[in-house]
Amino acid sequence: MTVLLTGGTGFIGSHTAVALLQAGERVVLLDNLINSSAEIVSRVEVITGQPIVFVQVDVRDTTAVKQALVAIWLRGRRPFCWAQGRRRISSAAIPLL
Ligand SMILES: NC(=O)c1ccc[n+]([C@@H]2O[C@H](COP(=O)([O-])OP(=O)(O)OC[C@H]3O[C@@H](n4cnc5c(N)ncnc54)[C@H](O)[C@@H]3O)[C@@H](O)[C@H]2O)c1
Repeated sequence: MTVLLTGGTGFIGSHTAVALLQAGERVVLLDNLINSSAEIVSRVEVITGQPIVFVQVDVRDTTAVKQALVAIWLRGRRPFCWAQGRRRISSAAIPLL
């Protein structure tokens, strides 16, 4: 399973990514880096030894998010979405496709 994590380079997102990767799942991280750094992506890759798909995007930009999802789909991923965050992003766990 591939899990799409919004806020993916934040505290909860990055720790969730590590747990999922260590459990044998794959992840796609979306984040606009307003409160985190792209360095987190390589740190998670080093910790887990797994490659990560990362897209820098603001989740409020629906056009950009749709473009990112199409690109992810074309790469053969079938992600489920876990949108997380406090205040800025509502929590939900929904199948995308
Ligand atoms: N123990 C620690 O060292 C530590 C460190 C940080 C946070 N915390 C705790 O973790 C909790 C918060 O963690 P969190 O992961 O929810 O917050 P976070 O701020 O770490 O992560 C949220 C992520 O969402 C991203 N983001 C925000 N708005 C966005 C948007 N519109 N589009 C795309 N990305 C967007 C940010 O860039 C960030 O990476 C709090 O309880 C805090 O106290 C603990």
